[in-house]
Amino acid sequence: MGLLEWATSPWGQTVPIHIAWFLIWVSVIAGLLFLILHAIYVMYFAKPKEFANDASSAVPALPKHVPRHSLVARLFHWIMAASMFTLLFTAFLPKVGIQFNWVTYHWIAGAVLTVSILFHVIHASFWLDFWSIWPDKIDLEDAWRRVRRFFGMPAPPPRKFAKYPLENKLFHGVIIVCGLSVIFTGVFMMFRVRTIFFPRNPYLFTDMTWGLMYVLHGLAGVGLIALVMMHVYMGLRPEKLPITKSMIFGWMDRDFVLQEHDPERWVIDTSSSSPSASAPHTVEGRGLTDAG
Ligand code: HEM
Repeated sequence: MGLLEWATSPWGQTVPIHIAWFLIWVSVIAGLLFLILHAIYVMYFAKPKEFANDASSAVPALPKHVPRHSLVARLFHWIMAASMFTLLFTAFLPKVGIQFNWVTYHWIAGAVLTVSILFHVIHASFWLDFWSIWPDKIDLEDAWRRVRRFFGMPAPPPRKFAKYPLENKLFHGVIIVCGLSVIFTGVFMMFRVRTIFFPRNPYLFTDMTWGLMYVLHGLAGVGLIALVMMHVYMGLRPEKLPITKSMIFGWMDRDFVLQEHDPERWVIDTSSSSPSASAPHTVEGRGLTDAG
């Protein structure tokens, strides 16, 4: 059983045409395994969180509702989520036996995702705190401390998080790789079908190049099944609900912020408690302040 499906081109060359569709189930099962193992770990093995800088005496004057995501950032998140679900369902339902005219819905959702990601890159680079989503030195040091403590070795407790925990930053990185792969390949694949954007031209690339493009599109696409499952599961876990709530209402409860986040690493602009106000600044051990 190969990972790819192959065909013979009119010139007798053996070319890949796409991934083997059983990989859909591999991804679904990997996603389910992650959920089950993580739930068991949290229920039976995880110790209560302990942070180095648990100094409640140094509580800064934070508003009751701490602004976290601006209205624009939340709109982007939910538009991207809707297009992502549409892409996953239109791509994979026909492959598992539920037939419908999927291609049109698929490229429309693909165009929405592409435009929303372009917007997000510009918005995050110039209006949000660009560095807040990339791992910094403190994150890596703390990850090492957490690993050592997990194995019962001596290590000081990790510090509290900046705006985003390391896990969220790593997840964002993997989503970037898969997301950009489906977008770059998807835009070219639109030349293979009829869209409103440009005339159809299936001769733009050689059969081999098209084949590899479909393979990359498929691999990144099935990867996104497991990633989306993990993301939705995390968003629904009871201890993560304050984070999910902040993606709906824009703010987090002060108590939750103080419990998990370090106000010195995620410097919150207390001049306004409105979530649509400028984004809080993050000082990620780099001496950086943002364009917020
Ligand atoms: C979650 C993201 C996505 C997933 C899971 C996904 C998955 C898939 C899959 C499995 C196929 C079938 C390919 C084949 O038969 O080998 C496909 C086709 C296609 N995708 Fe995507 N895709 C995604 C995003 C996109 C994006 C962002 C675009 C456009 C910018 C796009 C445009 C297309 C087009 C035009 C086709 C049809 C190609 C054809 O029938 O010849 N896709 N996609």
